[in-house]
Amino acid sequence: MQILDGKVVSQAIRDELKISVAQLVAEGRKIPHLAAVLVGNNGASETYVAAKVKACAEIGYKSTMVRLEEEITENKLLAVIEELNGDYEVDGILVQLPLPAHISDENVINAISPSKDVDGFHPVNIGRMVQGLPSFVPATPYGIMLLLEHYKVATKGMNAVVIGRSNIVGRPVSILLSNNSAPGNCTVTLCHSHTKNLESICLQADLIVAALGKPEFLVAEMVKEGAVVIDVGITRVNDTSKKSGFTLKGDVHFNSVAPKCSYITPVPGGVGPMTIAALMKNTFLACQQNS
Ligand code: GUN
Repeated sequence: MQILDGKVVSQAIRDELKISVAQLVAEGRKIPHLAAVLVGNNGASETYVAAKVKACAEIGYKSTMVRLEEEITENKLLAVIEELNGDYEVDGILVQLPLPAHISDENVINAISPSKDVDGFHPVNIGRMVQGLPSFVPATPYGIMLLLEHYKVATKGMNAVVIGRSNIVGRPVSILLSNNSAPGNCTVTLCHSHTKNLESICLQADLIVAALGKPEFLVAEMVKEGAVVIDVGITRVNDTSKKSGFTLKGDVHFNSVAPKCSYITPVPGGVGPMTIAALMKNTFLACQQNS
């Protein structure tokens, strides 16, 4: 069993980007600039956005963190996005999800200029990705593909099972894994809350992506010997023994599943850091395309 180490691979990608930025600086060219919009005080979202801004600083990108109160109206948020769309200085815009219930995710995502949509959530980018055209690919699925690529996991012909059909992870990763690419060329089954016989479907899988958001859902009895397991879950579970009051749990019961795997991602240190590396790559691309 080999660990797919997202920390190491993410750092390698960020080191490469750092060199590319130093080159831009030396040539007096525009430096990538990410604007991150955070609405309200969701603890996990604060942590994620802080990590994204920190990664920008480490690589040498500019970043702007736009903090907005939980009660902001949708129209005001849309006006903020419009301003960022028109700001030549800003290359990439991300609005951290989830948004408060009174704001429509769809309206907000649709308002971001597709050329600055480094999260790859805009319908134009999703549509282009589905057609196999150049696009911003959502960061978590893109990070998973980069991780599989780095470790040269031979996915061609594999039966891949994706558990969870979110627009952020499950659906796009199912498309990427089915593409005629390396990694890719899998036969993909996309499972969800209404899937029947999930256990027997998982037992057929050469590769499982667990992205349903249920801590330790995937257990050894659901995994074939030699399978590749990618754990996208990262749920805060109460833990009074921790200073923070919580511990992070993936969607995979790591201790029972890992011994059966050829490759597996840990939590933390697997997909999470790769999401940030992928976002940084998208931001670099946005800067190249917009300047
Ligand atoms: N919430 C959970 N994952 C993501 C992500 O990749 N991007 C944004 N903007 N919000 C998220």
